[in-house]
Amino acid sequence: MAAPLLVWYDANRRVLPWREEVSPYRTWVSEIMLQQTRVAAVLPYFRRFMERYPTVEALAAGEEQELLKLWEGLGYYSRARNLQKTARIVAETYGGAFPADYKALTALPGIGDYTAGAILSMAFGVAVPAVDGNALRIISRVTGSRLDVLEAKNKKAFRAWTETALPMDRPGAFNQAMMDLGAGICLPGAAPRCGDCPLAHLCTARQEGTQALLPVRAPKKEKRIEEKTVFLLRREDGSVALRQREKTGLLAGLWEYPNTQRLLTEEQAAAQLAAWGLRPLRWEKSWRCRHIFTHVRWEMQGYAVTVAGEGELEWYPKERRQEMAVPSAFERANRILRELEGDQNGTALL
Ligand code: ADE
Repeated sequence: MAAPLLVWYDANRRVLPWREEVSPYRTWVSEIMLQQTRVAAVLPYFRRFMERYPTVEALAAGEEQELLKLWEGLGYYSRARNLQKTARIVAETYGGAFPADYKALTALPGIGDYTAGAILSMAFGVAVPAVDGNALRIISRVTGSRLDVLEAKNKKAFRAWTETALPMDRPGAFNQAMMDLGAGICLPGAAPRCGDCPLAHLCTARQEGTQALLPVRAPKKEKRIEEKTVFLLRREDGSVALRQREKTGLLAGLWEYPNTQRLLTEEQAAAQLAAWGLRPLRWEKSWRCRHIFTHVRWEMQGYAVTVAGEGELEWYPKERRQEMAVPSAFERANRILRELEGDQNGTALL
């Protein structure tokens, strides 16, 4: 498997910033960003991140809120927090150098099997597999395995199988070849491009015609649904009401627009404003949207209202807000706010 895969990789590999200049720090940061996130979405974040935090020491010394602001829009913010925790440990305990050791790496916050394998193979040249969703799909198909790839003990078996396929001289290239093959050729569902695949001649699923059935994944649990009403409240001086979320749990420590349980009608929303001690001047806009997290789905009703009074809320002018991370779950309100503020300057009408 390795030989045809590497020939294909050398001719077809994607040119990516963390491949052109390789270090344990750059591999680690890019791998964390690439979890749950597409390459195209990661590219601008990776560039900004490396400008702001060129070294593990710079990241260790950074302010958490500034890091979260830089992360805004990428989601899964615990990744950013863990990055900083790990940076501080590497700076303080390891003198700024990542350990080239599987046990030591997986003991660091946010670094599991996969990321440790990626760092070791790509940055240190150590022959350790990095088995992500792409690799699981490719191995399921190549071997024709019906094992549920979401189950931990099966993942272990796929990892063990990959170890036997891994070339000692180019483990990092092999692992990244699997990623590129998964991203461009061995596509999920009924879409694989077997005609262009360097492994087609040894692929069991291809011989059996079972590509679309593999990999096997047990059905996921239903997500819990939470209904909320989100208030985008502005005063005539341009300040906006924001509050900081709890230090633990979903979107911990990030900023949000004031919101309440349930989908409130405009009348109920007006009563809520009164309860906060605010007087509505203009109802600017209302919207419905949803945001899907790993275990929960938010169904949201939103209202943008210009209000008078201070009430019980905290108000922030634009200069302050530019340093505050408001997560993508509130993207619709963020966008409407940008439109409203553009409006004020005589551009972009709603
Ligand atoms: N996805 C996760 N890690 C990657 C990498 N190193 N290159 C391309 N895609 C990836």
